[in-house]
Amino acid sequence: MPLDGVWLSDEPLWYKDVIIYELHVRAFYDSNADGIGDFEGLIEKLDYLENLGITAIWLLPFYPSPLKDDGYDIANYFGIHPDYGLLRDFKEFIREAHRRGMRIITELVLNHTSERHPWFQMARKAKPGSALRNFYVWSDTPEKYKEARVIFKDFELSNWTWDPETKAYYWHRFFTHQPDLNYDNPLVQKKIMRVINYWLDMGVDGFRLDAVPYLFEREGTNCESLPETHRFLKELRAYLDRNFKNRMLLAEANQWPEDAVTYFGNGDECHMAFHFPLMPRLFMAIWTEDRFPIIDILEQTPPIPDTCHWAFFLRNHDELTLEMVSDEEKDYMYRVYAKDPVARINLGIRRRLAPLLGNNRRKVEIMNILLFSLPGTPIVYYGDEIGMGDNYHLGDRNGVRTPMQWNVDRNAGFSRANPQKLYLPLIIDPEYHYEAVNVENQEKNQASLLWWMRRVIAMRKRFKAFGRGTTEFLFPDNPKVLAFIRQYHNEVILVIINLSRFSQAVELDLSKFSGFQPEDIFSGNKFPPIKDTPYLFTLGHYDYFWFVLKKEEETAPFRKIRHIPHISGNWKTLFMGKTKELAGKGNLTALYENVQILWR
Ligand code: GLC
Ligand code: CA
Repeated sequence: MPLDGVWLSDEPLWYKDVIIYELHVRAFYDSNADGIGDFEGLIEKLDYLENLGITAIWLLPFYPSPLKDDGYDIANYFGIHPDYGLLRDFKEFIREAHRRGMRIITELVLNHTSERHPWFQMARKAKPGSALRNFYVWSDTPEKYKEARVIFKDFELSNWTWDPETKAYYWHRFFTHQPDLNYDNPLVQKKIMRVINYWLDMGVDGFRLDAVPYLFEREGTNCESLPETHRFLKELRAYLDRNFKNRMLLAEANQWPEDAVTYFGNGDECHMAFHFPLMPRLFMAIWTEDRFPIIDILEQTPPIPDTCHWAFFLRNHDELTLEMVSDEEKDYMYRVYAKDPVARINLGIRRRLAPLLGNNRRKVEIMNILLFSLPGTPIVYYGDEIGMGDNYHLGDRNGVRTPMQWNVDRNAGFSRANPQKLYLPLIIDPEYHYEAVNVENQEKNQASLLWWMRRVIAMRKRFKAFGRGTTEFLFPDNPKVLAFIRQYHNEVILVIINLSRFSQAVELDLSKFSGFQPEDIFSGNKFPPIKDTPYLFTLGHYDYFWFVLKKEEETAPFRKIRHIPHISGNWKTLFMGKTKELAGKGNLTALYENVQILWR
């Protein structure tokens, strides 16, 4: 039976509607007590992700690798690292995820390999100038391509490293142990097509194209986003479209908006791209209590082809990068978000969401509201849904890659191994200790962040406008309030966010929706109808509203039963005791009230 498409909807634009969860298999759940998470463990936890409302999983690299860069140093493109299980387990994982309607996005690390990759070992032994030697980029001098920046500037001094065996320098944009593949060699291009084919055949739904701007090098340029790179990506896309259905390419291009959009081509390159410059600006907006940084960067962002979509995250497995802000902004961000210099790495800050926001629940909420309402696909980084802490003393970016915290048991329920065996130690910072911050605790408390996240995700999924709609910013006098309209056909959503630590009042010009009535998405509560005059809203500190605007005749005078089917979470536990009894008697109004109580 083919693995792909059996349980998934036949929707080519699925990537516009999904909620993505980013995780590393080794960090999630360890099924065999060796201290390392694995695919069998991940399969056991798919129900958890389903209950959270996740509809796509982005898996960090799981290939055979010496793991000097957390798997981004691949030693074999056609396998699974033995720590994480067998290929059979991976196939089973795809099947189980698809069965739950979840798509799988994996890493295509196409710019470089590990130095241990047989291609590099072969290249070293091959004759200079031969096709095999030229799998990688060699030079007799380190003076070439001087204009290319060094990315891991805390670790590397140059993009060239001397190889005593070949008596030549090899090119690498990242760590020394990650030689760059040479895309000028047609054999390399062919090999990468085979890699793609292999995983897509197995049922993978999309690839994150790691470090995609750096595929080609040309003298006199900064060696980023060159025309040759775009030409190759167009070929890759054409190959994908010719041979597979409903698959997706996501560009990891840490670039300014006008450069990032080039990765969409004319709708004939990548389907998605990360919007890197937005992330630091979300953090700036909330610190300066001003909507300007957000609106400014989105207004500088050129329009994109209809079939394309941005991808947004608040935090991920890397540092919060400050490459895409001005020098003053960078100083500012370091000053307010990384007072301790140890928290800084390369050009960024190695912290998770909750600690960055001082563990302020309301700040965490409005940042997530931004993530879930701005025009792009939201990505939740594992652990951030329960407000996990970090440990920036662990070296490199390991402090944001510690084991998932499931409960108060040994190793936070992540593993039954000797705690000394874990791939990384658990978070025991008193404020974020796994005995307090874990899934089981939050599962039991309806007021927890986890339940809040579930509710927001469930509500978002009720409306197509969040994934597909247009975005129109409103410009009320009060700059501390960000307000915008998302609209898709007749569906109109009004989002209002107070970025300030104090209450605010705001008057919005909603005259073009005169005769409509705002209905709070979370409660179904109706607000007074919109007129031609400015509409006054008041918001508490770090407060938000999601309204659906309905023509007055569409709105019924009472709360509607229709909310019930949209509740996510585990229905089996919802329908117990009193609730089950009411459902059995068909008493829908009473049932609704009861579910509402559970829901809160
Ligand atoms: C990407 C990854 C990062 C990795 C680098 C080199 O930027 O996100 O984690 O270190 O590529 O592969
Ligand atoms: Ca294991």
